[in-house]
Amino acid sequence: MPYLSAAFAAVPEVTPVPQPLQQQLGLQRWMVAQSPAMIALGARAQQLAGFNLPVLLLGESGTGKEVLAHIVHDCSPRRSHRFLKINCAALPHDLLESELFGYEAGAFTGATRTKPGHFESCDKGTLFLDEIGELPLALQAKLLHVLQDHRFTRLGGRQELFADVRILAATNVDLPRAMAERQFREDLFFRLNVFSLHLPPLRERQEDILPLTEYFLERYAAELRCPHRPLSPALRECCVRYAWPGNVRELENFVKRYLIFGEQAWLDVSPSAAPPSGNHAEAASQPGEGLKDVVHRVASEVERQTIARALEDCHWNRTVAARALNISYRALLNKLQLYQLGPSAAAARPIAH
Ligand SMILES: Nc1ncnc2c1ncn2[C@@H]1O[C@H](COP(=O)(O)OP(=O)(O)OP(=O)(O)O)[C@@H](O)[C@H]1O
Ligand SMILES: [Mg+2]
Repeated sequence: MPYLSAAFAAVPEVTPVPQPLQQQLGLQRWMVAQSPAMIALGARAQQLAGFNLPVLLLGESGTGKEVLAHIVHDCSPRRSHRFLKINCAALPHDLLESELFGYEAGAFTGATRTKPGHFESCDKGTLFLDEIGELPLALQAKLLHVLQDHRFTRLGGRQELFADVRILAATNVDLPRAMAERQFREDLFFRLNVFSLHLPPLRERQEDILPLTEYFLERYAAELRCPHRPLSPALRECCVRYAWPGNVRELENFVKRYLIFGEQAWLDVSPSAAPPSGNHAEAASQPGEGLKDVVHRVASEVERQTIARALEDCHWNRTVAARALNISYRALLNKLQLYQLGPSAAAARPIAH
């Protein structure tokens, strides 16, 4: 599958993971990368995987931070040990502390038996602290301690324990800002930020959109037992042009809906846009219509869709849209009237000039 480009072998100055290992690990299953930015990130992740130092994964929600964390683990010598993900935002402080560090019998009401925490159970492996920006301040201090010397105590315990755990941490929180607001410890930030990998939003790497779409189509057609349903050229274009604020996760969800509902699924992504009718052959097959009429009708439809998309892209600022379309402002107004175009109620935004 050409779209599953080998992020791990593409950068010559990086020693690639040997092919059999790459196959054995199933890395291609995990990360589709076609854009130079993602190929470079994949290579960098592989390069730093072997060093026993923390890695901080940054990027908007749904950009693939967890995918990359798996790659770091799988390319590291720890690959045969555990990869454990903890969501720091999902548990209340006390519970999170006892989950991470464990507790001794009698440490609190209900602690009838000693229970080891994730640090212990993940010895020699990788602990992925997701949403680290949400970690309570008291736990940040304890984590800092573990990062310094790999030592910690269970809740209610006295004995210092040692665990050989590599920490990967991810967040979509603006950590410098959280530090300025005293919500995140600076010393912890500098401990975690030995290596940082910043995943760009999908809108900044359009080259990845179609390869990801193809990958998800294939994967979910098999998983959901749906017939394979290729995207029409018009829908492909819509996918490439759309900004995907929910990033890869949003695209993935769209593909699942598309496999079930067909082109109507696009309405959930961009409610103001009619589902693209990309099948021009079908459009041409109306009985009794001459070639000239067909060409005119299809060209008008393409024109209408292009104008609508340009207006959407610039939030219905008609001056900017006219410039993007390379037509005069007046010509754009005429087209709006001709095609009866206006922002739909679903996407109601103030119309700007
Ligand atoms: N490059 C990629 N190749 C294949 N699948 C991807 C890629 N990037 C993301 N995905 C898929 O998109 C979804 C979101 O990715 P992931 O969970 O890694 O994002 P995230 O940055 O951790 O998001 P959040 O901040 O919300 O936790 C997952 O289902 C993941 O498998
Ligand atoms: Mg995540």
